Amino acid sequence: MPEIISTPQPAGCPTPVTKGIILAGGAGTRLDPLTRIVCKQLLPVYDKPMIYYPLSVLMLGDIRDILIISTPKDLPDFRNLFDDGSHLGIRIEYAEQDEPRGLAEALIIGEEFLAAESCCLVLGDNLFHGNLDFFRSALRDNKGATIFAKAVRDPERFGVVELDAEGNVLSLEEKPASPRSPYAVPGLYIFDKSAPSRAKMQQPSNRGELEIIDLVNSYLEEGNLEAKPLSRGVAWLDTGTPDSLLEASSYIGTVQKQNAFQVACIEEIAYERGFIDAAALAALAEAHPNREHANYLRSRARD
Ligand code: DAU
Repeated sequence: MPEIISTPQPAGCPTPVTKGIILAGGAGTRLDPLTRIVCKQLLPVYDKPMIYYPLSVLMLGDIRDILIISTPKDLPDFRNLFDDGSHLGIRIEYAEQDEPRGLAEALIIGEEFLAAESCCLVLGDNLFHGNLDFFRSALRDNKGATIFAKAVRDPERFGVVELDAEGNVLSLEEKPASPRSPYAVPGLYIFDKSAPSRAKMQQPSNRGELEIIDLVNSYLEEGNLEAKPLSRGVAWLDTGTPDSLLEASSYIGTVQKQNAFQVACIEEIAYERGFIDAAALAALAEAHPNREHANYLRSRARD
């Protein structure tokens, strides 16, 4: 696999983010019995395991150095699925979270992997579809922390961010009973290199978790947080309930049937982003047991 080299930046410029963490653990109780044997992030969303979608977001942001965190029980399945990632021109490492002690713990578990670099954290059950330019520019421009904001009908189910008329963050709350704004915070966060040490200073919340909102709040308190609203053209799909899982599958199925292109085809993205060449994509097609998918990859390699 090609060596992944980060470009040195002039002093004073934000350094583009090149490392990503996918948090794919948790108990999945809200989807039980679906998740009794197979973990949530490996459940199908139309024609792919759920984790393909957040992985493809990182890859579309040119992030090639990735840590997948999951439970000791489920981690071997992720390893079987992706191995070391070299067939996709990326590097994937794995780490265990033995108990679901909260989303912010991902930064502590990932500290060694991050090696004092900034990172993007994505939740393994969050799906995005549409033009990801907003994400690429945020990866380039991040100074402290960056979150995103999406107006939804049911903000009380999520982290909620309140913005002023200029888009500055006024407040952040986790699942407030009376949300101060319609803006939910999707599970996609960009942090500077200080995130692991901040997470280590946090106290568990009333529900016993290291809350991601508390970590983000520590940046807000220092005036070091940006929140970027997602445009209408970007879909953020929830997979937390059987209904939303079904809707996400229908959405992806509809988009794929109406277009000549697949969503979250990781082999195609690896090729499009220049992580692998046409010959490597063709080789992946030859090795693929699904004839329809292999034909799709072959056609992409020829284009
Ligand atoms: O989806 C976006 C929302 O994700 C944000 O708006 C919230 O601020 C954030 O707290 C989170 O809310 P959820 O209710 O979705 O969090 P949940 O506890 O369900 O965890 C999200 C995913 O992370 C889930 O797939 C399980 C996994 N997880 C969770 C915990 C607590 C872990 O891998 N480890 C954990 O310790």
